[in-house]
Amino acid sequence: MAGAWTPQSWRKMPIVQVPEYQDLEMLADVENRLSQFPPLVFAGEARKLQRKLARVARGKGFLLQGGDCAESFAEHSADNIRDFFRVFLQMAVVLTFAGGQPLVKIGRIAGQFAKPRSSDNETQGDEILPSYRGDIINGIDFNKSERTPDPQRQLMAYRQSAATLNLLRAFAMGGYANLEHVHRWTVGALKDSPHGDRYNALAERITESLGFMRACGINPDTAPQLRQTEFFTSHEALLLGYEEALTRIDSTSGHWYATSGHMLWIGDRTRQLDHAHVEFFRGIKNPIGLKCGPTLSSSELLKLIDILDPDNEPGRLTLITRYGADAIGEHLPQLLRDVKREGRNVIWSCDPMHGNTIKASSNFKTRPFDRILNEVRSFMDIHKAEGTHAGGVHVEMTGKNVTECTGGAYALSDTDLHDRYHTHCDPRLNADQALEMAFQIAEHLKKEQPAVPVSDLYAG
Ligand code: PEP
Ligand code: CO
Repeated sequence: MAGAWTPQSWRKMPIVQVPEYQDLEMLADVENRLSQFPPLVFAGEARKLQRKLARVARGKGFLLQGGDCAESFAEHSADNIRDFFRVFLQMAVVLTFAGGQPLVKIGRIAGQFAKPRSSDNETQGDEILPSYRGDIINGIDFNKSERTPDPQRQLMAYRQSAATLNLLRAFAMGGYANLEHVHRWTVGALKDSPHGDRYNALAERITESLGFMRACGINPDTAPQLRQTEFFTSHEALLLGYEEALTRIDSTSGHWYATSGHMLWIGDRTRQLDHAHVEFFRGIKNPIGLKCGPTLSSSELLKLIDILDPDNEPGRLTLITRYGADAIGEHLPQLLRDVKREGRNVIWSCDPMHGNTIKASSNFKTRPFDRILNEVRSFMDIHKAEGTHAGGVHVEMTGKNVTECTGGAYALSDTDLHDRYHTHCDPRLNADQALEMAFQIAEHLKKEQPAVPVSDLYAG
């Protein structure tokens, strides 16, 4: 690992979770074309995100990261992007108000296309085909032509990412993110919700704060920070050929930045110390994430931190823990103690999704809402006990009214799952469940700290 880093140096390392492309000439041609395409994000934005994350690392902010498990070509529409962004902003307002601290908003979006899989192949009847690895690699339908990895899909993923990002930038800056509108949507959602009464008190306090600010002359017409917001993109950088092609030198700093998204993370299956993914990540300057699952020991984690964040820069590294509600208590406290003892400036974020996946009696892969929330609550309680900062949450969610996770205010059951089960990979919180989660985290946070007005916090 000590050798010189280049955007290609990962190619000399062992690698797992990569597709077997048959047409290597076509693959090289696609990567070459991608390397000439414009960057999707620019280095200054990634640096700005790192400054915001640095505040979180110092205990003065909270990170909300969320979106699809896997974006798909089939579901690429303005409505889907808008509906996701709407509920994501609603969550952000609730959490900002309850936490009384700046909130950093990062979507799992505009590039979240490649998926690690537990098995290379899938068997149906007598037929064995390559597993689906995300739309950037192959198609989800179970037939040979769809499941054969196709390099051309990378061009499609790039273009979809660009179009998605373009709309998100317009929403964030062009008036859609107006704080008063966002809050009005939340009030509307609570009116229809069976748990609405429970959350009304908090919503009313936000309404009062906005009314008070308005009376003081602070409103979206007079204060730009109330009609726009800052939003960043992220994805698991699994397909390293694609990432390499979009990794560019920043002329201002002379550093290499991955320009496929603002923040990239390493998945729990590809964090081997001497493998290709860790090699690639150590050389890019973006803020990065590392998924931490039950098989990661403290000593291995400390070695990974040394490699990935040698200068101990606040905001550089977010550790995203994903144990499951029953296992978090067994693993997290020791890691917190060891990382704190070494004085490492990391953000701790909780992914309460990937350790809580079960098979429903109806055979669908699902996640019970209560287990998801229990993991988040345990995460916060453990941090409080250890004197460390519970820095954020990382969730799989959609703005659509899907039926993929059980529970929540509408008490979705195993037998409801078949109704609108649309995910291309893991089960996501639907819009109601995602907002409810924000309210429940807010209730938990409220016990810890007094709320303050949202005026200066919203713009991010
Ligand atoms: C994911 O975030 O979709 C994922 C595959 O997570 P993990 O790497 O934690 O299993
Ligand atoms: Co997932």
